[in-house]
Amino acid sequence: MSQARHTERDTPVVAGMYDYYLGGTANSEADRAAVEEIRKTCPEIIDAAWANRGFLQRSVKRMAAEWGVRQFIDIGAGLPTQRNTHEVVAEVTAGGRVVYVDSDEEVIARGHDLLAGVDGTAAVHADIRDPKGILGHPDTLRLIDLDEPVGLLLVAVTQFVPDADDPWAVVASYVDAVAPGSYLALSAPTSDFQAPRIVDSVVKVYAATPTPAKARSREEIRRFFDGLELVPPYEGGEPGLTYAGLWGAEDVEAADSDGSRWFYAAVARKP
Ligand SMILES: C[S@@+](CC[C@H](N)C(=O)[O-])C[C@H]1O[C@@H](n2cnc3c(N)ncnc32)[C@H](O)[C@@H]1O
Repeated sequence: MSQARHTERDTPVVAGMYDYYLGGTANSEADRAAVEEIRKTCPEIIDAAWANRGFLQRSVKRMAAEWGVRQFIDIGAGLPTQRNTHEVVAEVTAGGRVVYVDSDEEVIARGHDLLAGVDGTAAVHADIRDPKGILGHPDTLRLIDLDEPVGLLLVAVTQFVPDADDPWAVVASYVDAVAPGSYLALSAPTSDFQAPRIVDSVVKVYAATPTPAKARSREEIRRFFDGLELVPPYEGGEPGLTYAGLWGAEDVEAADSDGSRWFYAAVARKP
């Protein structure tokens, strides 16, 4: 697939909007217009995306460097024009394996271009609501040993699964499938700190994409980690959820911002 096709779509899509938040090039005019609409009421959205992306990268680094995780399943990966999971893993260790999954087929086609010749990686077109299809996919079976610890990355993706599709059961089916000693890294947007008017304006823009989004409360997001051991998000912190920018931050006070507070994030270990 060519990058041009990806940038020529006339409906905004989440992957393109996210890429634009992060200053990338894999986005269309429609993606950029949607983001600019959001920025009118929510200028901190760019900061929110960076805080979330930083959480993904810091959590992967910690899993690989401190906890010895060598294999990752990154669902709703997006593959933006940004330091991706396999690059973070490669900074820490050789021989890491990463299966990227996304429901946007153009993201996956672009992933095939990006990952061509990169050992230990694959890009799979699937919906997070299909755990059997993802876990049983030939690329997953080739790269991931479910008897060894896995880093499950569900970062900024559960908001696209409505309550009616029980996102908690969806997440649990991945957790159930992986070995003890595996980790779940998950972030999700929250409306806890935002004025309803602003949340409504953001939700309205996403409603015009193929994947409407839902912001959830702290308790709803914490439930994704049921049965798991939450790790302290930063040195001296209590185990639990925090805002995306704070997770793994060296200077927690400096990392706090209005943008960061759009996402709760946590990492937990499967006992
Ligand atoms: C906001 S981006 C997050 C990218 C990356 N995980 C991160 O946090 O930096 C969300 C991604 O999830 C994908 N997505 C949306 N709904 C999905 C679904 N039901 N199953 C799999 N992927 C989905 C979108 O196509 C998009 O690439």
